[in-house]
Amino acid sequence: MTDTINIDNGKNELKIQEQRKKSFNGLCASEWASLSRSVWNDVSSARAKKHLNHGATYPEKLCDRVISMYSNQKDVILDPFMGTGTTIISALKNKREAIGIELTDRFYNISIASINEYMESIKFNLFNKDYPKSNLIQGDCCEVLKNIANNSIQLTLTSPPYADLIHKVVKDRAKTHKNSYFVTQNNATTNIYSDDERDLGNMSLKKYLEKVEEIMQELFRVTRPGGYNAWVVKDYRDTKNKIPYVDLHSKIANAGQKAGFLYHDLIIWDQNQHRKLVLLGFPSVFYVNQNHSYIVIMRKPK
Ligand SMILES: C[S@@+](CC[C@H](N)C(=O)[O-])C[C@H]1O[C@@H](n2cnc3c(N)ncnc32)[C@H](O)[C@@H]1O
Repeated sequence: MTDTINIDNGKNELKIQEQRKKSFNGLCASEWASLSRSVWNDVSSARAKKHLNHGATYPEKLCDRVISMYSNQKDVILDPFMGTGTTIISALKNKREAIGIELTDRFYNISIASINEYMESIKFNLFNKDYPKSNLIQGDCCEVLKNIANNSIQLTLTSPPYADLIHKVVKDRAKTHKNSYFVTQNNATTNIYSDDERDLGNMSLKKYLEKVEEIMQELFRVTRPGGYNAWVVKDYRDTKNKIPYVDLHSKIANAGQKAGFLYHDLIIWDQNQHRKLVLLGFPSVFYVNQNHSYIVIMRKPK
C-alpha cells in the first residue's frame, strides 16, 4: 500500500492542533462532534467477575467517554462512590489523576487490587513523573470530602446507591424473580453493599436526599470553576409503597442545582442491548421496562 500524499502541506494538521489548544479537554472539533451524542447505546459491556461480586458497576467505556469529554490530561477526577474502582482505572488509562472514596472494605480492596494490577501492567515506576497518580481512601464520602482542597477537581464521575432500593430488589428477586429473565437471562446479580448506617444504600429516600444535598455542597466547593459533576443514575419504581415512578435523576439534578451547579446536560445510556424485556404490570397497569440510565451533567459556573 502506498502512503497517502499530503496535499494540504500539513495545514489541516495545524488547524487541528490549534483546535486542541483552544479546547479545555484537548479535543479537536471532529472528535467533539463524534462524542456529542445525547443517547449512548455503545458503551455497555459484559461484566467481569469483580463486577459480578459487586452487582452495581458501570462500564469502563462509559467512564472513558465522560472523562475525555469533560477533562484534560493531568486533571484530577473524583469518584466519591468508587465501588470496584472503574472510574479510577479509566482516569489513569486516560492520563488523569484520580481520587476515589469507598465505604465498604470488600469493594475498597477490589479497587486496590485492580489498580495495582493496572499499574503492574504498565510497568509503573515511581521515578517516572509522567505516570498519573491515584489516591484511594476508605471511609464515608460525607466526611472524607471535607479533606479535599477547594477548587481542585475538574470532574466528579460517580454512580451512587439509589437510596434503599437495593433492599427491595433483593427481597423481590428472592421471591418473585427467582427463575425470571432478570436473574437467568440478564446476568443480573444484586447484593446489599453493607450494613453500615452511613451507606447511602441503607437510607430511606428522604434521608438519602438530605445526604446527597450535603455531598453536592462539598462537591461544589472542591470543583474548579468551570469543572463538571456527572452522576450516573437510574429512575425506578417503588410499587410496594404505591409510588409508580421515582424520578431519581431529577432529584439528583435538583440537589446539585441547590448547591450551586448549573444543570448542564442530560445523556441517556441505552442499556437495551444487554437486558431482555420482562413482563411488567400486565394485564393491569402496564409498566414499561426501564432499560436505560441517565448521566446527569452539572457544571460549576466560571
Ligand atoms: C453503585 S456503586 C458504585 C460502583 C462503581 N461505579 C463501579 O463501577 O464499581 C455505589 C458504591 O457506593 C458505596 N457507598 C455507599 N455509601 C457510601 C458512603 N457514604 N461513602 C462512600 N461510599 C459509599 C457502596 O459501597 C457502593 O460500592
